[in-house]
Amino acid sequence: MQKNILITLTMCIGLALVFLASRRLGVWLQSSDKNRPDQTQLSATQQATLSDSPIALSEQEVADGFRLVDGDQGNKMFVHPQSRSWLEVPLPIASTTGDADAPLEQAGKPAAAMGYLGPQACAECHRNQHLAFVETAHYRTSLPANEENILGSFEPTQNQMNTNQSQLHFEMKTDEQGHFFQDVVFGNLRRSFRADIATGAGFIGQTYLYWSNDALYQMHVSYFREPDRWVNSPGYVDGTAWYARKVIPKCVECHTTYMEWIPGSDNRYQKSSTILGVTCERCHGPGKEHVDFHQRNPNVKQGRSIVNPSDLSLTQQNDLCAQCHFGSGERLQPPFLFRPGDRLEDYWNVEELSGPEEGGVHSSNQLARLKLSECFQQSSDLTCISCHAPHHQERGDIKLFSTRCIKCHEPPDCGAFEQVGQSISDDCISCHMPLSADNHLPFESATTVQFPKLRDHYIRIEGK
Ligand code: HEC
Ligand code: HEC
Ligand code: HEC
Ligand code: HEC
Ligand code: HEC
Ligand code: HEC
Ligand code: HEC
Repeated sequence: MQKNILITLTMCIGLALVFLASRRLGVWLQSSDKNRPDQTQLSATQQATLSDSPIALSEQEVADGFRLVDGDQGNKMFVHPQSRSWLEVPLPIASTTGDADAPLEQAGKPAAAMGYLGPQACAECHRNQHLAFVETAHYRTSLPANEENILGSFEPTQNQMNTNQSQLHFEMKTDEQGHFFQDVVFGNLRRSFRADIATGAGFIGQTYLYWSNDALYQMHVSYFREPDRWVNSPGYVDGTAWYARKVIPKCVECHTTYMEWIPGSDNRYQKSSTILGVTCERCHGPGKEHVDFHQRNPNVKQGRSIVNPSDLSLTQQNDLCAQCHFGSGERLQPPFLFRPGDRLEDYWNVEELSGPEEGGVHSSNQLARLKLSECFQQSSDLTCISCHAPHHQERGDIKLFSTRCIKCHEPPDCGAFEQVGQSISDDCISCHMPLSADNHLPFESATTVQFPKLRDHYIRIEGK
């Protein structure tokens, strides 16, 4: 009797964990990763033909016992009967945008037609903003995946990531042109994947994306700042090699300035339209008209046809930042249509959240948390840019951030002032905006799952 209860209980907990895990993955992915075949039950007919597949096995690999089987959504999986590991890759689909000038309806027009020029076009006349800006996390949040921009180590042994399956490990390499490759070494099988885009300025880590024709996928191995090594990408299962996770528009919408999405697709884009980094025009609007005007009228000293966010209402200012810092919700419009001055609620059905760990695409949900604070509720003008200078890299400078608190508070107003003394002015942050783990960004290693810590924007007295 008691044993039965125990078994039922274990099953319930098991199911709950599976549910939570799938929900968590869903937040990251919003695409399915279920229905993986159980390799012990593969029928002979499931073995793919080896003839003209671009991901064919060599004769030696077949002799070694490897097989190709169908995965989800037309993907292919490399499996071995004596191994629990697998390598999953997308079957390349023919590009429909071989002709980059092909007209696209709907949201689809090349970046130039949308009026985007890229940050370099602003440098000529706004040298100071540009110089400072290229140091920021926004600028660096997506970069070409060349050796210079890769944060992980290529030193022998450190360039290797082992897994809990002895037959499977990864090797990170560069070639003479500085291209970055991840090699999957699965028994005697070795497959090389070349990265195209490095995502993440690297405060927490960096993830790598690659193109297969005009479809964009995420790579298995990411880099993690703490403890400074190669790790399984968030949500990936240790002991597998997954090169078929689609990079959906939501992901690039937060991490690039522009990438022309091909309507109806999950992860296909007009490659040539890409403007990497969250750069000038994401916060100021497309710059073509502005640049054309000022090039023709060098004597006009008043900016034309461009948005200065400080002219917007406070809600519009916060919404501008919140389009990428709000957590999660249901999309109401095609990607990349939001322009500075627009209202967030017209683009997203924003979920109401309370906990810092809730809802985020690992973004820690800054706006919703800030709104809970007395600082926000009892002052009329608190926005993201009250504390964050958009063109400067200030991360880590706690003393500087504390001066922003002191714009509204006097240090002696703090209940801890007597105890800490005048030096309290150097750090209002540690006590009132504590770091808290982001449960939406778990990185799995062979032995542990880690959650990076982010600032909680609910400014408060802890324990109150
Ligand atoms: C040919 C010169 C030129 C180029 C190129 C240029 N700007 Fe400007 N911009 C100006 C001038 C002149 C002003 C008005 C003086 C000022 O505010 O610096 C201005 C003002 C601005 C303002 C403030 C507007 C206001 O109403 O206060 C913003 C924002 C701006 N530019 C953004 C950009 C962005 C983004 C780019 C690149 C896409 C860009 N500019 C490229 C000349 C230029
Ligand atoms: C298009 C999406 C997007 C918009 C719009 C956006 N951000 Fe970000 N922001 C990001 C991403 C992505 C990161 C993470 C960059 C990284 O570390 O790779 C980030 C990082 C940050 C950081 C942390 C890095 C640092 O420098 O300390 C701050 C602060 C920040 N954003 C504030 C803002 C503010 C303020 C605004 C509005 C003026 C804004 N963001 C608008 C996407 C965006
Ligand atoms: C809703 C906007 C949003 C979406 C969607 C999103 N991110 Fe992010 N991402 C952020 C923000 C904001 C941060 C910065 C976290 C912070 O510092 O608060 C970030 C951080 C990161 C980092 C770490 C950056 C660093 O400096 O260490 C990586 C890597 C990353 N994101 C990759 C991805 C990938 C891959 C996807 C798609 C599967 C994705 N993100 C989807 C907003 C987003
Ligand atoms: C994350 C959003 C964001 C990005 C990216 C961004 N800006 Fe701004 N910019 C702002 C905000 C907000 C203001 C108004 C408040 C302020 O100046 O701090 C502003 C103000 C300006 C102004 C008005 C004068 C001034 O300095 O206040 C200019 C010019 C400008 N930005 C140019 C640029 C250029 C050029 C780039 C790219 C190299 C760029 N911005 C990138 C948000 C951004
Ligand atoms: C735009 C002005 C403004 C800024 C900037 C600001 N606050 Fe506040 N803050 C307020 C107001 C108004 C209140 C409510 C009245 C009070 O308690 O002083 C408040 C309340 C607080 C409280 C009491 C909270 C509670 O729940 O009782 C703390 C703690 C606090 N602020 C800390 C900070 C810290 C730390 C910073 C910087 C990171 C900061 N504030 C930035 C305006 C501001
Ligand atoms: C009262 C000041 C204040 C306001 C307002 C504020 N922030 Fe922050 N924010 C901070 C401080 C302080 C940090 C920690 C900086 C550091 O560790 O270097 C921070 C960190 C961040 C980070 C870096 C990731 C992390 O959590 O460690 C992001 C992203 C961010 N803020 C976005 C925003 C956005 C978006 C808004 C508007 C909704 C906003 N912030 C409003 C003070 C503020
Ligand atoms: C060592 C931790 C610590 C530091 C550092 C700190 N605070 Fe506080 N703060 C507290 C505590 C604890 C309280 C509550 C004290 C009480 O209730 O008696 C508090 C209370 C406050 C309050 C609310 C006061 C009230 O009576 O409503 C404000 C505002 C505040 N702090 C602002 C700041 C500012 C601004 C700084 C930086 C100059 C700062 N704090 C630095 C711990 C700290």
